[in-house]
Amino acid sequence: MGSTRESLHGQWSSKWVFILAAAGSAVGLGNIWRFPYVTGENGGGAFVLVYLVCIFLIGIPVMIAELMIGRRGRRSPINAMRLLASEDGLSSGWTVIGYMGIFSGFLILSFYSVVAGWSLAYISYSVSGDLASDLDSSRAVFEALTSSAPRLAFWHTLFMCLVIFVVSNGVTRGLERAVKILMPLLFVSLIAMVIYALLVGDAYKALTYLFYPDFSKLSLDALIVAVGQAFFSLSLGMGALMIYGSYLPQEVSIPSTSVIVGLVDSLVAILAGLAIFPIVFGYGLEVSEGPGLVFVSLAIAFANMPFGDIFGFVFFMLLSIAAWTSAISLLEPVVAWLIETKDWSRPKSSLLSGGIIWMMGLAALLSFNEWSEFAPFGKNIFDWAEFVSTSVLLPAGGLLISIFVGWRLSMFTLSEELNGLRSSLYKAWYVLVKYLAPLGVTLVFIESSGLRGVILGFFAS
Ligand code: PFF
Repeated sequence: MGSTRESLHGQWSSKWVFILAAAGSAVGLGNIWRFPYVTGENGGGAFVLVYLVCIFLIGIPVMIAELMIGRRGRRSPINAMRLLASEDGLSSGWTVIGYMGIFSGFLILSFYSVVAGWSLAYISYSVSGDLASDLDSSRAVFEALTSSAPRLAFWHTLFMCLVIFVVSNGVTRGLERAVKILMPLLFVSLIAMVIYALLVGDAYKALTYLFYPDFSKLSLDALIVAVGQAFFSLSLGMGALMIYGSYLPQEVSIPSTSVIVGLVDSLVAILAGLAIFPIVFGYGLEVSEGPGLVFVSLAIAFANMPFGDIFGFVFFMLLSIAAWTSAISLLEPVVAWLIETKDWSRPKSSLLSGGIIWMMGLAALLSFNEWSEFAPFGKNIFDWAEFVSTSVLLPAGGLLISIFVGWRLSMFTLSEELNGLRSSLYKAWYVLVKYLAPLGVTLVFIESSGLRGVILGFFAS
């Protein structure tokens, strides 16, 4: 069953390698850096609950849809969309999903690389013994890093070089070896951090904060942040998993692998929360500390624990690697597209697209120092890149993908890619992708953009 097309760019050697690669894309700064800090900014438990609901009811169904499009098309997101649309007699306008994805990928990687650079910098602080043991000094260390444009630029450049290097060598080859060992290691070290944090920090406050949903603290704006965070964390809505799906062997079951990836991703986010919040409460940090939350809080933990320098070194190393495996999946869709359409070599395509992203990253990092005053509508360049990509483009991409798969793609295509359509699980997925995902994302867009008042006013008049 299924199509017999082959990808130009290689194939994963087994189901488990694919799961590790997809988990490698999903698990990254989104789980360990972003999840704790947006949870802190949006009120804790209620936000966590809404986030998990989004993962399971919207994220995983969209992931299945995205992987399916990728495997069916066996090429870059833009060309896969073009091919699937034409095979089912649909408008070529659907390729807009692919173009939007390329744009989101550029935008996301430009700020992602800056934060990954912080993680690299913290590896060096662990080695040099510069992690500070009290709150004020730890904040000062973080501020000294972010206020120096040359330092940020150095780490950002190093990170982009690492990403371009792997993508130049071919993702299926380059990535397979790395993820097999590193993903399990990250998991183990995170568990060690959780145990330590629960023992020495304020476990009770942290557990209540994370798991007791106080809905009075949940704002409407938090809804779109939760949806966006779900898409961001699962690497959805921009074609990253679509391109990984295009390297997926035909016999692998897409639904079961998606559920595994979704579970692993959520587990890592929750573990990150459990590693960070006991320290946050134990040492009197603000939950709404912002993007520096993880770095400031964990550095204190490492500075105070026995063998903390070694632990810190291992942890920031693994965090950087997790960021690396995610960043690779951000660059791959555009590189695959350049190879297919421009007939450029892989190294040339990687260097060129990576170079543009590197330049965009410079603008993002300057917003912490030289350009910090430049903040139209209250957000600097970094904040805008993060907001537009995560809270607007990824959910919009997911919305279009779910409409395309739920409403436009033929039953024939669906049935071939999902190996028959009989099971009740399939039916549940179909309802979620056809109705709940588009409706959920649209409602959240309407609510958070303040359009609800306008629409209600329109009907009332
Ligand atoms: N999922 C990654 C993370 O949680 O860090 C970030 C990411 C990768 C977002 C790839 C989007 C994407 F397409």
